[in-house]
Amino acid sequence: MSFKLSKNTKVYIAGCGGMLGEAVYEAFKEKCIVKATDINLTEPWLEYADVRNYTDIKESILEFEADLIINLAALTDLEYCEKNQEETWLTNALGPENIGLIANELDIPLVYISTAGIVDGLQDVYNDFDQPNPLSIYAKAKYHGELFTQFHVNKFYVFRAGWMMGAGPSKDKKFINKIYKQIKSGKKELFVVDDKLGTPTYTKSFAKGIMHVVQSGMYGVYNQVCNGDCSRYDVAKEFINLLGLKETIKVTKVNSDYFKTEYFAPRPYSEKLTNLKLNSRGLNVMPDWKEALEDYAKVYIKDFNN
Ligand SMILES: NC(=O)c1ccc[n+]([C@@H]2O[C@H](COP(=O)([O-])OP(=O)(O)OC[C@H]3O[C@@H](n4cnc5c(N)ncnc54)[C@H](OP(=O)(O)O)[C@@H]3O)[C@@H](O)[C@H]2O)c1
Repeated sequence: MSFKLSKNTKVYIAGCGGMLGEAVYEAFKEKCIVKATDINLTEPWLEYADVRNYTDIKESILEFEADLIINLAALTDLEYCEKNQEETWLTNALGPENIGLIANELDIPLVYISTAGIVDGLQDVYNDFDQPNPLSIYAKAKYHGELFTQFHVNKFYVFRAGWMMGAGPSKDKKFINKIYKQIKSGKKELFVVDDKLGTPTYTKSFAKGIMHVVQSGMYGVYNQVCNGDCSRYDVAKEFINLLGLKETIKVTKVNSDYFKTEYFAPRPYSEKLTNLKLNSRGLNVMPDWKEALEDYAKVYIKDFNN
């Protein structure tokens, strides 16, 4: 059943305080009535709700009378997840179960965000139909959330994202910001792995993609990543070029062993995704990753020059 977003549509966004939350909030608040919640109230537009607590999250969604739920809530630091397994299961697996049950009870559609990280990396590229085999606790719990959504939620969209980039220096917890922090601190040589392959995923485009697909009524699981693929090294090189620092900063290739103490959670060699379903249904709004990075780098260029 297709679903038209209008200024009267009520969209509930859980876990909206993070890097994807910013873009999803900005996109949906332009068109709909939004209630954004999180356990970390970093913005004045956020209200408190914990996806682990069925009664509280249900009350928060019911009192808003939501027409659509988007669940972004997760623990996303892989090492933290390895060290805090129970908390990870409660947040990344039980949380989606709680929200799924509530969506069913209200008979409204639910959007769940899964991850490219659920694959084992033994294959080069993964389409929407390839079999996941998660390695880390983060990925195992996320995959459980995905499976529950797929098999127990009546009206669902699962979007699998790749290497997320978005929200800039204050909120980006991932690779681009980790590279940027090193540059900002004055490092002249960066060590970056070239044995991890994936697909960058720009939060702004990803949010637009969610908006587009939820209006199609075509429920199901979708890979949704930027077009093209690369290694972490390729991304770092491109980012440094965009900052105009190609001549000043040396990027040295290393393999993952170099970071084995710091990044001890298991990660797939390749988590490259292709948007096979979005492409074949004419629903792919994702740009090429280099184009996306060029746009994203603008906030860093501004920050760097201040
Ligand atoms: N980042 C990536 O590379 C990536 C890739 C693929 C998929 N994803 C998925 O995309 C979604 C959005 O992630 P993101 O990149 O925006 O990560 P993020 O910046 O860490 O945002 C997740 C938000 O959820 C909040 N949260 C944690 N536990 C919660 C709970 N019990 N109840 C309510 N909120 C809770 C977090 O608060 P705290 O800050 O306090 O933890 C954070 O504000 C997640 O489902 C994630 O698994 C992310």
